Amino acid sequence: MRKKIVAGNWKMNMDYEDGLSLFSEVVNMVHDEVTGKQHVVVCSPFIHLHSLAQLAKSNAKVSIGAQNAHQAESGAYTGETSAKMIHSTGAEYVILGHSERRQYFGETNELLAKKVDTALKNSLKPIFCIGETLQEREANEHFGIIKSQLVEGVFHLDATQFAQVVIAYEPVWAIGTGVTATSAQAQEIHVFIRKEIAAKYGQEVADNTTILYGGSCNPKNAGELFAQGDIDGGLIGGASLKSRDFLDIVKVFN
Ligand code: G3P
Repeated sequence: MRKKIVAGNWKMNMDYEDGLSLFSEVVNMVHDEVTGKQHVVVCSPFIHLHSLAQLAKSNAKVSIGAQNAHQAESGAYTGETSAKMIHSTGAEYVILGHSERRQYFGETNELLAKKVDTALKNSLKPIFCIGETLQEREANEHFGIIKSQLVEGVFHLDATQFAQVVIAYEPVWAIGTGVTATSAQAQEIHVFIRKEIAAKYGQEVADNTTILYGGSCNPKNAGELFAQGDIDGGLIGGASLKSRDFLDIVKVFN
């Protein structure tokens, strides 16, 4: 049975104290309210990783992740943070290929493949983001875009390596817009992704791959989205910044 995961992506939000306070609320609410086998991941800015990872030790259902990692092991890359450094904080996951990094920082599938390799080499589990823009969907190019992001970003991995990867489908036109993909639209793409994984690695690997949906997921729409057979949870932006909203999404899997 593949893992059900609800991951929060705080993006560039929460100063040190606010982050500690929010995460403490989340951990306490997970302890008190979560009754299922779902797993919670909070992906914070780098400044929080170590302190949150220490707090997360109190609950096996909660893990910490970063939102990026450099592709090099170390070196003269001022301002950057390595996968090795992230792992040393106690963080277990790293978001790679988020559309905001592809858009604002020019991250290509080729670069992301290197980031994935370095993350895996340093025992981090990549949450690898893929998804089309509105223009690409309107031009009916979305299936091709998503396939190329998979092929060029993660399909160089062997089956053992790929088993460490979580895929997040985030239609760019749904991120931060309040315009959520319908459950049918999301399920259609998740089925497509799983079929591509099966064609590459076999049905067992595909069936065991967690595929998350991200893009304006909230307590009102999470139930219908997560009820879809190939949607295994969510990558949550805005709604992860409010503990009550985030837990209401997590509790869909109770
Ligand atoms: O990585 C998750 C994020 O891109 C989704 O953001 O605010 O639409 O939930 P949001």
